[in-house]
Amino acid sequence: MRPKHMLNFKNWSGDELLRLIDLSMEVKRNPKPLCKALDGKSLAMIFQKTSTRTRTSFEVAMTQLGGHAIYMDWKTTQFVLADIRDEVRYLSRNVDCIMARLLRHLDLKLMAESSLAPVINGCDEKYHPSQVIADLMTMKEKKGYLEGLRVVYIGVHNNVCNSLIEGCTKVGVEITIVTPIIHELAWDEELIEEAKRTGLYKMTLNAKEAVKEADFVYTDTWVDMELFLDPAFKEEKERRVKLMMPYQVNEALLEGSKALVMHDMPIHRGYEISDDVVDGKRSIIYEQSENRLYAAKAILLTLIK
Ligand code: CP
Repeated sequence: MRPKHMLNFKNWSGDELLRLIDLSMEVKRNPKPLCKALDGKSLAMIFQKTSTRTRTSFEVAMTQLGGHAIYMDWKTTQFVLADIRDEVRYLSRNVDCIMARLLRHLDLKLMAESSLAPVINGCDEKYHPSQVIADLMTMKEKKGYLEGLRVVYIGVHNNVCNSLIEGCTKVGVEITIVTPIIHELAWDEELIEEAKRTGLYKMTLNAKEAVKEADFVYTDTWVDMELFLDPAFKEEKERRVKLMMPYQVNEALLEGSKALVMHDMPIHRGYEISDDVVDGKRSIIYEQSENRLYAAKAILLTLIK
């Protein structure tokens, strides 16, 4: 039987996502009974890009579930010189799951097509599904329910935005996006059309109006991690900063709103979000990032057979 993968949420139903969210909450509340659940199991973690949270959460999750995680820096593996399909055909005979953070979604798809083990997308240019399981878990933790909640995403339309749209609309959360810039590599017409059919997806450029009735305001970096320090991207980075600055999540924008503030991190203080909001009472950013661990556990427990 082909393994189930998590490249995005296209092959996950709303009920399956809700079960993952509830399992994330359960493993947070009561970790002890699961401390040997993945005894003898191994996870390969392949990184083409930098990471703090994704690496830490999946590695710690495997340790706390009694399994083992192998960190593989793409540059120091034979992935750099061989066909990705051959390397994965080998790798998936020795490990029980693969989590990969790659530059291109097409390579993730090749991995999944060639793998005997489940493949988890640890963030590519189009999607960041494991992040959004933690985000939805955090929303449910804060409010006690998901259906009917209102999320406003303010920033560049990117990988996180896509997964947030997909995740929210599948579990009954209304999402309004305020995205003056679309990162063209991230665009997924099919995902947007699917979201529109739920009636839970909205778009506006009026951030002030959008946040008024929001339960959560979510923002993310304006420049993807692989481009942030790239001198070739300097001009585009400056253009984005100029265009996006009026959309910074700050106290002036949030005045009169009861929304809690989320950010998937890493944070660029003074750009997409102001210092006072990061450190203020509305911020649930660090709880959200802590929840990556419980989401990772739930995903691994669900996919590894
Ligand atoms: N949010 C997130 O994926 O964090 P890292 O890039 O540090 O893994």
